[in-house]
This record gives sequence, C-alpha cells and structure tokens, in this order.
Amino acid sequence: MKNFCAGASNRKIFVYTFGCQMNEYDSLRLVRSLLLRGYDVVSKPEEADVIFVNTCSVRAKAEQKLYSFLGRLKRFKNRNPDMVIAVGGCVAQQLKEEILNRFPFVDIVVGTSGVSKLPDLIERAGTQARPYTVGRHVDLPGQERRPALTGGFFPEEEPSFGMHWLDPSSSKWSASVVEYVTIMQGCDNFCSYCIVPYVRGRERSRQVDEIIEEIKLLTARGAREIVLLGQNVNSYGKNLSPPVRFSELIERIASETDVVRLRFTTSHPKDLTEDLMACFRDVPILCPHLHLPFQAGSDRILALMNRGYTQAEYLKKVETLRCYRPDIALTADVMVGFPTETEEDFRETIKLIKIVEFDGLFSFKYSDRPFTSASSMKPKVDEETKTRWLVELQELQKAITLRKNKAEEGMVRVVLVEGESKLGSGQLTGRTPHNRIVNFEGSKELVGKEVAVRIVEGYAHSLKGELVEVHQP
Ligand code: SAH
Ligand code: SF4
Ligand code: F3S
Repeated sequence: MKNFCAGASNRKIFVYTFGCQMNEYDSLRLVRSLLLRGYDVVSKPEEADVIFVNTCSVRAKAEQKLYSFLGRLKRFKNRNPDMVIAVGGCVAQQLKEEILNRFPFVDIVVGTSGVSKLPDLIERAGTQARPYTVGRHVDLPGQERRPALTGGFFPEEEPSFGMHWLDPSSSKWSASVVEYVTIMQGCDNFCSYCIVPYVRGRERSRQVDEIIEEIKLLTARGAREIVLLGQNVNSYGKNLSPPVRFSELIERIASETDVVRLRFTTSHPKDLTEDLMACFRDVPILCPHLHLPFQAGSDRILALMNRGYTQAEYLKKVETLRCYRPDIALTADVMVGFPTETEEDFRETIKLIKIVEFDGLFSFKYSDRPFTSASSMKPKVDEETKTRWLVELQELQKAITLRKNKAEEGMVRVVLVEGESKLGSGQLTGRTPHNRIVNFEGSKELVGKEVAVRIVEGYAHSLKGELVEVHQP
C-alpha cells in the first residue's frame, strides 16, 4: 500500500489483500474512500484501529491461509478490544455469516458486492460503545458483545464499479504509476474446477464512458500505465446494450486519454478474436504482452474442464496472434492433477509448453472447490503425483524463462519506471513493454518516466540493466 498521502485523523486502517488484482483494486477503492474521510493508512496491523482482510477462495490453500491469518488477528483484538475487524472478498461471499461463527471476534463481513458499503459499516461498527468479548460467545458483565454487521452479498446486491466517484479535487490520494481499472466483473464460463462464477456472479460490463472517465481521473493524478481488469476481460461488452467490442474500447482509450501504456488481464482463449489480435499491431499504447491461460494440454482434460477449446485450437490462436505481433510475450496459467488426469494427459501439457515457449507461467496443483462440478469427478490424482508433475513443469518453464531473459542481454529496452526497487538504495524498478521486470541504478526523479535501459544480465525472474538515457521529460 504505497503511494498514499496520509490524511490527518485519529483512526488508522490496515488492509491485507489476498488473491487477484480484482481484490487489489477493491482494497484500493476502500483505502482511497477512507483517506477522503480522514483516515490514515498504516503498514503494521498492530497499529490499526480498523483491519480489513480481502479474501480469495480460488484454491483451498488460499482459504487455509485466511484462517491462519484471522487466528493471528485475534491477538491484536485481545490487546485492543475496540479494534474493528472486517472481512470481505470471495471467502466472505462463500461462507457469509459462517465466518462469524468460526471467528466471533470479526465485526463486519461483506460479500463481493460490499466494498462500497464498507466505509459506512466501519464507521457504524466503530461507534458502538461497548467493548467486544473476544473468543467464544460469552458475554461478560459490562462487556456486551457488539452486534456484527453484514451486507454486500450478491445476488441480493449488485456490485458497484469504479473509483470515478472519488473526489477529483482532493489532495488526499494520488495515483500510482501503474493503475488497475475494472471493466467487467463476474464470469459466465463455469470452468468445471472454478469457484469464481459462484463468488463473483454473472458477467457484467461497465459503460465505456465511465471507464474513460476513470482513466482520465487516474492519469490526471499521475498514472502512466493502465491495466484493464476482468475475470474474462476479453468478453467485455457482450452484455451491454448496444454491445461494444473489446477492441473498440481499446481504440477509444487510445484516442481519448493520455495513457502511455495499456494492458489487460485475464483473457480467455475462446474470446481472443482477430480484431483484438490486430490491436497488438495497430494500437501503439497496447503493450506486446498477453496473459492467455490454457490450463491443460490434453483435449480430454480440456473438455472435462469445460474450457471450450482443444490444444490445436489454442495453438492456432497463438500462431495467428504471432502473425499480427511476432514479438508478443505470452504468459499463462496451467494446473496439474485435474481429476482423472493421467501421465499421458500430463505429457500433452508439457508438449504444449514446449511448442509455445511461454515467457512465464503461473502453475498450480488442482484443488477441489465447493459448488464446482469437478469436485465430484473421480478418481482424484494423488498428492505425490501432483507434486512430481508440478516440479517437472516448473523446471521446464524456469529454463525457458531464463533462456529468454538471457537473450535480452545487450538489448536496449524502454522501461517505465514504477518506483524504487526492493533491492536497496539507488535502485529503481520498472517493466519493459513485454512485461519483464528490470532493476537498475537511477535517481528517484525518474519514477513515472520512460527511460532507455541497456540489459546487462538476465535472471530467472528479472533483468538487471543500466540507464542509457531518459526517453521523455
Ligand atoms: N479468470 C481467469 C483466472 C481465474 S483464477 C481465467 O479464466 O483464466 C486464476 C487461476 O487459478 C486460473 O487460471 C487457474 O489456473 C487457477 N485455478 C482456478 N481454480 C482452481 C482450482 N480449483 N485448483 C487449482 N487451480 C485453480
Ligand atoms: Fe474461472 Fe474459467 Fe471464469 Fe476463469 S474463465 S474465472 S477459470 S470459470
Ligand atoms: Fe480469488 Fe476471488 Fe480473485 S476467488 S482469484 S479473489 S475473484
């Protein structure tokens, strides 16, 4: 949570975000609206009056992480019974009031439509005078339990979009160099393993004018790069009336705003149309990088996953895309150990990775999720096999990524400087248009600028560079 101007207030908030960029975006919306109400943002939970935990439910591991985190928060509440603890996001939507039974020290639970409600709920929870009894539901004399507050669950409530309502004249918040803008929410694809359609609801797209307005607000406040967000971002606009093509939205952003770099995530292969591919050739601000999850290489598994394409169809899309933009960087999500997956199926995944040669991969072990049809498919793949497959896949990808990063050595790349690097003093960090992270020495004044950087060394996850010249003022 960097880049926030702290307002003068006696209430402090700490936000912990699990999960995807959608959650990051929602957390940021909450933080900015609380800054406008005079709150401060703190970086240590023990210093906070209000803690908001934004949760992710996509894999069982993410859910487990939340439970151990909430266990830790209980200690803070024991020390400061007036602290307000709010839980939102996808686990909150999934479990609803059940969170209060398991964690009675939680004050507020909101679903995935609840972010815009939170500021009011937090204020209400904070003004309830009696201290909370921590632990089980035992009301000690003089220590009445505070009633918990809940709300913002879909489908009863529709999610709100956007940051465009944030007071444009206020100096209490500033934009980061890279900002996210949600353009659609929910998902109608119902991949058989995925909980997202159940916790985020049906697909809804935002109006073009509202998106443009938000981007203008963010660029006026210092944003240079915009990442358009959606669970299924490239099916944007289908449910608007009249429908809008995603490529039209990209063209309008390019012609009507001052965005220097534009990206979008996450795309579904079935919605990767030729007019969208052509944008990578024709729209200069659109960065040459696409995240295009394939999930599995075997046609049998892809069908069981309900992905709507075969390996050959995926490869054909990649081939066509590379005709439009030969240097495009490709990343993807993939999982191993889907129910019934055999060694032979897994070899198809390895084959696909070798053919495409992705620039990077996010790889996961399949895990059963509530509500999904895959959770009742049998037989399951044992843990040992999943681990063996994941290790093999990751070793293969590591070698490919390293080879590609080594091939960058000696090249001069235009890097958008995002901030100071975690590596230490005098180091800056930014990305190439192809989304490779570059660390190099330079002064803080370069943050937000595009600079030419010579790549001197390629590593597994990043590049080391040296400044050549400042590209623009
Ligand atoms: N909307 C995006 C991403 C959804 S979640 C898309 O369609 O690609 C991010 C990733 O988590 C998925 O791409 C998938 O690889 C992984 N994932 C989703 N459900 C999973 C499950 N049950 N087990 C393991 N990984 C899962
Ligand atoms: Fe989940 Fe599939 Fe929708 Fe992605 S496209 S969010 S994996 S259901
Ligand atoms: Fe996780 Fe919800 Fe995002 S389940 S991946 S936080 S949409």
